[in-house]
Amino acid sequence: MAEGKLLVGVDIGASSIKVVQIKESRRALSIIRHAHVELPRDTIIDGHVMNPSVVTEALQEVFARAKITQKEVAIGVYGQSVIVRKIAMPLMTKEELQESIGWEAEQHIPFDIKQMTFDYEVLNRFPEEQRMDVLLVAAKRDEVNDVATVVRDAKLKPLVVDINAFAMQNCLEKALNGLPKDRTVAIVDVGAANTTINVLSRGTSAFTREIQTAGASITEEVRKQCNLGWEQAEAYKCGSQGGLVPQDVNAAIDLACGHLAGEIHRSLDFYLATSGEADITRIYLCGGGASLAPLSRAIEEKARRPVEIFDPVSAFAIDKRVDEAALRARGPQVAVALGLALRRVKEVRT
Ligand SMILES: Nc1ncnc2c1ncn2[C@@H]1O[C@H](COP(=O)(O)OP(=O)(O)OP(=O)(O)O)[C@@H](O)[C@H]1O
Ligand SMILES: [Mg+2]
Repeated sequence: MAEGKLLVGVDIGASSIKVVQIKESRRALSIIRHAHVELPRDTIIDGHVMNPSVVTEALQEVFARAKITQKEVAIGVYGQSVIVRKIAMPLMTKEELQESIGWEAEQHIPFDIKQMTFDYEVLNRFPEEQRMDVLLVAAKRDEVNDVATVVRDAKLKPLVVDINAFAMQNCLEKALNGLPKDRTVAIVDVGAANTTINVLSRGTSAFTREIQTAGASITEEVRKQCNLGWEQAEAYKCGSQGGLVPQDVNAAIDLACGHLAGEIHRSLDFYLATSGEADITRIYLCGGGASLAPLSRAIEEKARRPVEIFDPVSAFAIDKRVDEAALRARGPQVAVALGLALRRVKEVRT
C-alpha cells in the first residue's frame, strides 16, 4: 500500500461504531463512505472490550453497510488507562531524548512502565531557556492489544493507533484550517460513557482529561428520577419518542446536564489554575452529547464561555455514494472517526 495513503477511520465507541473513509483530491477532501452501527450496552466499558465477538461482528457489519473494501484502518484508544502528559525537560538532541525518555516516562506514568506502550513528541523548544516541552502519551499495552485484536479478527489491519483526544484535535484543525495560534480553545467530546477534553493552546494540546460521565449518565439519571425504563429515558433525552416530553423528565435532563457541565467546568478551571495559561475563549462541543441542547446551554452557563457545536462534516465535500442526510444528522458524532480518517500510513505527527 502506498505510503501516505489515508486510512479508514474506525471509532469504536461505547454505544456505537462509526466508520469514515475520506478521499483527497486537488480541490477538496471528500467523505466517500460512512456508516454507523449501534453496540449493545456494556459491550465496551471504559475503553475495555468486554465482549470481543460482538465488536468484531459489528465491525464487519459496519464495513459491509458502508461498502468499504480498504482494510487498512486507524483506530483510537481512550479511557483511564491512557495517559497524556506535557512535561518540561532540559533542551537536548533527538538522540539524547530517545535515551532518557524511558526514565522520564517512569516518573510521569502512574502505572508499571513494563505494562505500558508509550510515544512522545517535542512540542516546543526554548533554546534561550535551555528547555523544551515534550508530550508524552502512554496506554496500557494489554488494552491496546485487545482493541487491535478485535479489529484484526474482523479482517482489518490497524496500521495506526491514535488517542481519541488527538483525533478530535486533528479533525478540528482540519475543519478550522489550522488551530488558533494566539488563543486557547477547548474541544470536548461527550460520548455515551466518556467525556474527553482537550485544551488547545497556541496550536498544540496543552491538557487532556477523560471524565467518566457522559450521555449514558444523563439517561441513567432521567431513568432513576422519573422511574422510567432505559429505552424510554433515552428516547425522551434524544427527542425521538415523538410527542411532548413530561415536565419532570425535562427537569431531570436539565439537572443531569448541569452535573456534567459542572465537571467539565472544573476540569477547565483546573487547567487554568495549574498552567497559568491564557483564558479559554471557546469550547467546541462534539460527540453524540453535542446534540443535547440543554447540555450546551448548561456548559455555557457554568463555564461562562461560548460553546460552539462542532460539526466537522460541513468542512468536507460529501460524495454521492454517502447517505448525506444520515451523515449530516450525526455531524458532531463523527468527529473522532473523521480525525482518524485523516491519518496516513507511516505518518509522523509533527
Ligand atoms: N439527538 C440526540 N440528543 C441527545 N443525545 C444524543 C442524541 N444523539 C445521540 N445522543 C447521545 O450521545 C451518546 C452517544 O454519542 P457517541 O456516539 O459520541 O458516543 P460513543 O462514541 O459511542 O461513546 P464513548 O465516546 O463514550 O465511547 C449517547 O449517550 C446518546 O444518547
Ligand atoms: Mg466516542
